[in-house]
Amino acid sequence: MSRVFNHEIMPEIKSRWSPRAFSNKSIAADKLKVLLEAARYAPSCNNEQPWRFLVADSDEKLTKMRNILNKGNQEWANKAPVLILVIALKSFEKTGKENHWNMFDTGTAWGYLSLEAERQGLITHAMGGFDREKARSEFKIPEEYEIISVIAVGYYGDKSELSEFNQSRERPQMRNEIDEILI
Ligand SMILES: Cc1cc2nc3c(=O)[nH]c(=O)nc-3n(C[C@H](O)[C@H](O)[C@H](O)COP(=O)(O)O)c2cc1C
Repeated sequence: MSRVFNHEIMPEIKSRWSPRAFSNKSIAADKLKVLLEAARYAPSCNNEQPWRFLVADSDEKLTKMRNILNKGNQEWANKAPVLILVIALKSFEKTGKENHWNMFDTGTAWGYLSLEAERQGLITHAMGGFDREKARSEFKIPEEYEIISVIAVGYYGDKSELSEFNQSRERPQMRNEIDEILI
């Protein structure tokens, strides 16, 4: 099963997908910075830039981050050399008013990060399957921040090392047609 593209778009959008077969090969620190550079140039409401990233790339932080993941995600994501907790400020820094667009903007930043990662030959996989409250207490994240996602980042490894179930779904997912997303 392959994806069907009806229009020509950025190659990174076409080739990006969410693999689970991570290699444990580490990512050079400057390469990681390139991904964050892409993320920080995302547009945001009032240029608030509500996104914040907690990067786990040391043994100590990785152990903590792995511990907040659901069992099903731990099975494959534990191999990733970098796990990033994505959070967002809930209120505008200047006015203190609620920022209704914080998740929208932070999603854009993650999107940029994932596409730049693709361009850099890296793979990314976002996860909602983790314990949000455990993340808050383990990493001492104040209530001012929404806890959104954990992203696994790394290089593609060996598919045969995945469980049978994960091997069976180790492929890019299909998409709705344009007509189906118009209302
Ligand atoms: C916010 C978010 C949460 C996700 N949570 C999980 C998760 O907990 N576990 C998992 O294996 N995949 C997770 N995914 C991956 C999606 O299932 C995947 O992006 C989707 O099926 C589309 O496939 P593709 O990214 O390969 O195109 C998540 C993706 C996003 C964006």
